Amino acid sequence: MKTYKIAAIPGDGIGGEVVSAGVEVLAAIAKRDGKFAFAVDHFDWGGEYYKRNGRMMPENGRDLIRKHDAILFGSAGHPDIPDHITLWGLRLAICQPFDQYANVRPTRILPGIKSPLRDVGPDRLDWVIVRENSEGEYAGVGGRAHQGSPLEVATDVAMFTRAGVARIMRYAFKLARSRPRKKLTVVTKSNAQRHAMVMWDEIAAEIAKEFPDVAWDKMLVDAMTMRMVIKPETVDTVVATNLHADILSDLAAALAGSLGIAPTANLNPEREFPSMFEPIHGSAFDIMGKGIANPIGTFWSNVMLLEHIGEGAAAARLMKAIECVTANPRFHTPDLGGKARTVEVTAAVIDAIGAENA
Ligand code: IPM
Ligand code: MG
Repeated sequence: MKTYKIAAIPGDGIGGEVVSAGVEVLAAIAKRDGKFAFAVDHFDWGGEYYKRNGRMMPENGRDLIRKHDAILFGSAGHPDIPDHITLWGLRLAICQPFDQYANVRPTRILPGIKSPLRDVGPDRLDWVIVRENSEGEYAGVGGRAHQGSPLEVATDVAMFTRAGVARIMRYAFKLARSRPRKKLTVVTKSNAQRHAMVMWDEIAAEIAKEFPDVAWDKMLVDAMTMRMVIKPETVDTVVATNLHADILSDLAAALAGSLGIAPTANLNPEREFPSMFEPIHGSAFDIMGKGIANPIGTFWSNVMLLEHIGEGAAAARLMKAIECVTANPRFHTPDLGGKARTVEVTAAVIDAIGAENA
């Protein structure tokens, strides 16, 4: 029997609650399948680890997870530690060296979930946002000088390389080609950002020639927010820079009913390093420890994990179980307007996995 090694990193806030639910669901789906198993190693990295050790993860942290088949991540962020330290010390300290350059964020309105958009059903909103995940505005290039003086200066330089842009474009075109509508929207801001964004557009046009069967268009990011709200059915696959896609994916998640549902995969498509799967909601301190975090974002991330390791049938079965549970308002957590608790949603998904026809 094949055993997949998973590194579970709950991180902070509600990360612990949703990752432990996610690990239970992984065990259930493996049991139901019967042909593979998971061996899960837990890593207590994050804010509390930082308070004890002065860093978010051990110096050899990446070596401890480099050989795992996948990483299941909760969230990074701690009320007592500045956000840029928790982000750069853990999540980006894994994503960037492991070259997880393709961040894939699917959005659909799951059965039983209400979108804030009027009259929009699942048939009108089925998107995948591909976020460039290795450079751009998150390159970390910049600096500060004369701190505290009136002459203080600070820069954050968005850095784009031809290689980095070409590989994410190619990834996005391939993904668009694999979807029924074969449509890609390239998001840009090449009117105001006249260097890197112009190169982004040029590279998009070059790569598009390799994919004559994909219909593609270009959209400025501000106009894109409007199109997502007003004409959601015209959008299918989207590719955008690190920051633009960060913002668009929150909008997408809200339009699909709740940030609590949205999943993401940080992929190293060449498989030289493990890829990382996480809900996009973040640490949500306001509801931490209350047992009401929505675990669906983590379960859907598990679906992406299963697809990535090649267990497509189990992935489809888990997605079906998730949809069967969201269809029942009794299993809606407070972010969806319900009263359900994390453990109830988890038990319901596990039941649905075990159901005869699943
Ligand atoms: C996301 C999040 C992160 C990001 C935060 C937590 C730093 O918003 O995954 O979208 O900006 O990348
Ligand atoms: Mg975000």
